[in-house]
Amino acid sequence: MALERTLSIVKPDAVAAGHVGDIIKMFEFNHLRIIAAKLVKLSKQEAEGFYAVHRHRPFFQSLTAFMSSGPALVMVLEGDGAISLLREIMGATDPAKAAPGTIRRLYATSIERNAVHGSDAPETAAAEIAYFFPAIDLI
Ligand code: CMP
Repeated sequence: MALERTLSIVKPDAVAAGHVGDIIKMFEFNHLRIIAAKLVKLSKQEAEGFYAVHRHRPFFQSLTAFMSSGPALVMVLEGDGAISLLREIMGATDPAKAAPGTIRRLYATSIERNAVHGSDAPETAAAEIAYFFPAIDLI
């Protein structure tokens, strides 16, 4: 499988609940290496920019208010097939539908406050990584 990079965000709900260490442990256990990381407190505008693809969805205002409500840990992860691997470890968007043992099943409290984000395809991974990290910050 190809070596890939993907963007992960430990969202404000999971940071506030103290799940950062457990989530990073799951990444590393599954051979996803952290090659860049920073704790950010997004402005509403920055959250809207990141989720611009969802701007016409009914949950857009609520989602971007939540994502700008507190610190979030943004990371670039690298590994074999990292994009699909991360999505597998995260589980389904809706925690009620997420498989047992996945991050969202363990730590999400609703479809919106779902603990983590992961890029869904190579093109979105490249765009999302560039949204947060200049190339010079990637190891
Ligand atoms: P994420 O993987 O970050 O991508 C888009 C986010 O929108 C998603 O996780 C959820 O946080 C949120 N989301 C998706 N669907 C819904 C929904 N039906 N209601 C509220 N929030 C949603």
